[in-house]
Amino acid sequence: MLILGIETSCDDTAAAVLDSGTILSNVLSSQDEIHTQFGGVVPELASRTHLQSIYPVVTEALDRSGYSLADIDLISVTQGPGLIGSLLVGFSFAKSLSLVSGIPLVGVDHMAGHILSVFLEEKKPSFPFIALVVSGGTSSLYLAADFTTFSLLGRTRDDAAGEAFDKVAKLLHLPYPGGPQISDKALSGNCDSIKFPRAWLDSGSLDFSFSGLKTSVMNHCNREKQQGRELEVEDICASFQEAVVDVLTEKTVYAAQKQNVNTIVLGGGVSSNQRLRKRFEKKCLENNISFFVPSPVYCTDNGAMIALAGYYKYCTFGKMSLSEDVYSRSQLG
Ligand code: KG4
Repeated sequence: MLILGIETSCDDTAAAVLDSGTILSNVLSSQDEIHTQFGGVVPELASRTHLQSIYPVVTEALDRSGYSLADIDLISVTQGPGLIGSLLVGFSFAKSLSLVSGIPLVGVDHMAGHILSVFLEEKKPSFPFIALVVSGGTSSLYLAADFTTFSLLGRTRDDAAGEAFDKVAKLLHLPYPGGPQISDKALSGNCDSIKFPRAWLDSGSLDFSFSGLKTSVMNHCNREKQQGRELEVEDICASFQEAVVDVLTEKTVYAAQKQNVNTIVLGGGVSSNQRLRKRFEKKCLENNISFFVPSPVYCTDNGAMIALAGYYKYCTFGKMSLSEDVYSRSQLG
């Protein structure tokens, strides 16, 4: 089965062609250069840029796959969550393609794409597993029972992990997106130099909160400046990153133990963070848990994961009605 996947939920225009589980093409047009001058994603600019990129990106994905639209058996598109204006570009484009070609259409939840992205790799986990999805818009924990059954166990109560990375980077005058900048600086910093808080929340809670940590970094920077001291940017980055990584690893392993599940899977842009990957590897090894994380190219938003999630959704539930609409908050779990 040939599947065309289309993703425009935030600031990346992406399309891919899969032959069942095998990737034939995966094309991405990033808008980072546009949004970096504003220190974050500007929704209207994102939608307008998707409008310009969608046709060339989808055409390139088809060309690179060696197939044409007439060969495609299924179109899969991100239905939500995300920025409504951005989602509407990909969703309307996919609907139009389906309408004129008669190819069935399926709308998928972006979170399902991130949870399943690890199946684009050679080494695949088996169900059930705990999935931690950490990106610019979410930090959520799911129990995945199969390819279409996900239960939400915990989620962010305020800033998502990636959002915290981006906001702290902005405080330190580092460009957007902040995650890669902070992890880069952290390499030459001391992660024990500043004791930033870890928000564990109520006992047993699997929710996350990163806004207090961000405020704590801001207070530290203001204090240092008031006392006329130069900011130790590398140390701040390393200490901040460690606080995020501590909470993400501890809560995810706790979720696995609580659910009696011995496999953990990561997904989302933040899961390309090297320190996070290393800490998970170590903690999972110590606790006899199998650990899976996609390569960085599949951690970030991409069309291949949407094609894959759509394939499984279509096999289980069939095609979507063309009267469906997009949504801004995840409907998963
Ligand atoms: O999943 P994703 O590509 O898309 C959106 O959520 O839009 O995630 C992007 C987020 C950004 O917040 C970015 O700063 C963060 O992932 N990110 C990272 C790293 N690479 C990207 N955060 C920490 N460390 C990284 N290496």
